[in-house]
Amino acid sequence: MTSRTAAWNLLTEFTQSESLRKHALAVEACMRAYARKFAGDEERWGVVGLIHDFDYEKYPSAQEHPYKGNEILKERGYSDEIRRAIMSHAEYSGVSRDTPLEKALFACDELAGFITAVALIKPGKSLAEVDAKSVRKRMKDKAFARKVNRDDIINGAKDLGVDLDEHIAFCIEAMKPVAKELGLDGSAATLPPASSAQK
Ligand SMILES: [Fe+2]
Repeated sequence: MTSRTAAWNLLTEFTQSESLRKHALAVEACMRAYARKFAGDEERWGVVGLIHDFDYEKYPSAQEHPYKGNEILKERGYSDEIRRAIMSHAEYSGVSRDTPLEKALFACDELAGFITAVALIKPGKSLAEVDAKSVRKRMKDKAFARKVNRDDIINGAKDLGVDLDEHIAFCIEAMKPVAKELGLDGSAATLPPASSAQK
């Protein structure tokens, strides 16, 4: 099962948090873009991005996420390919990342969150104000978005076989078409600051 609609329904059934839903949409956008670049199945890659953390809100512990989600996905008929990719995005699961799909998910996950965090500190709170240079600068700032593991971003790009700066620029561009859904189109600038940028 790779229907985008079914995947969205699954995500929203399990995830009420607005920021987690936005994270899912951001990773989906990056995955769809990489599917086009690497000639992967865009719908399938997008679904993997969309639901990779669907169980996180309900089952956030490392004992449960993504294992619990994996069981639910199996019950609902999701393929081994999709389930394995989701399992492999958790470093501690012991599931290796072998395919381009699995490598892309890991490479995009933390980075999408980090790009979002960088956009939210810009005056206009928009993706249009973010470039690879500003992301790299923030990556060196240990106090900024400290929950985001910099090594995961660096190693993710390396393992995917893409230059880090190009990877960052690629993901920023991939997220721009859904900037409105991500709350990063500049319209949030007039609202009070968001309390938390990451999941
Ligand atoms: Fe994630």
